[in-house]
Amino acid sequence: MKKSPGFDLDSSQLPGHVGIIMDGNGRWAKSRNLPRLAGHRKGVERVDEITECACKLGLKALTLFAFSNENWKRPEDEVTGLMGLLRWYLRSERRKILDNNIVFRIIGDRRKLSSDILDQVERLEAETESNTGMCLTIALSYGSRSEIVRAVAKLATEVAEGRVYASDIDEELFESHLDTAPLPELDLVIRTSGESRLSNFLLYQAAYAELSFEDARWPDFNQALFCDHLRRFGQRERRFGQTSEQAAARRQVVGAQVAAAEPKVN
Ligand code: IPE
Ligand code: IPE
Ligand code: MG
Repeated sequence: MKKSPGFDLDSSQLPGHVGIIMDGNGRWAKSRNLPRLAGHRKGVERVDEITECACKLGLKALTLFAFSNENWKRPEDEVTGLMGLLRWYLRSERRKILDNNIVFRIIGDRRKLSSDILDQVERLEAETESNTGMCLTIALSYGSRSEIVRAVAKLATEVAEGRVYASDIDEELFESHLDTAPLPELDLVIRTSGESRLSNFLLYQAAYAELSFEDARWPDFNQALFCDHLRRFGQRERRFGQTSEQAAARRQVVGAQVAAAEPKVN
């Protein structure tokens, strides 16, 4: 077993790309007789903690569901409070993101975001685009159905303009039109707060992701729980439609390729 530095986890069994549906802020606050926004505020602290952990573990990509397309329908004061927290997050995390060599991006419908938030986001995206560390993606004003429809619309325009032949459309070309285009394959989706649904998160990308559900509310989620989910991921057999024997042979080939690509330590 190759241990991740500082963690009791086998680094060869870790997922490359983890998505988290950070749910339960409201219920966390309600159970403490606090306003919902207090739960969201606590939730932002967890974002920082889990991002740091994912970085230290050397994950390739972490995608966090922070605000859905549907969440715009929440009471106005909650939406305003959440946008305020987002501004604060972008300001306060900037230095850490830069210092940790993180590539920062958002996915979702940017047209609905206010111009000052979009400015902050685009500045951070530009400042980090040539970084080489973990890709931190925040799903913001994001809905998977809308993302898929936008991708179809882009492709339809390209076909209408004669830039793409309809007969050339395959999975690879389609995926290159999704918001998540530059990201690696999604391996694991974790949802906190006891719900077992995707709520319009990465529907296409989660086709072969492992799904892992957690009872703790997002403000109570921590590095130890995160590591538990990663450990359980390592124990699952991903078969991608094949038999168990084929899957084992595939793992051996991939393992040998990874070992061959690793630098030799004398
Ligand atoms: C997740 O927590 C954060 C957002 C959706 C913005 P919720 O606010 O959904 O918390 P619950 O589900 O009501 O407890
Ligand atoms: C999903 O949580 C969205 C985020 C975590 C940002 P919701 O609380 O909006 O999902 P539902 O309404 O319970 O399905
Ligand atoms: Mg919720």
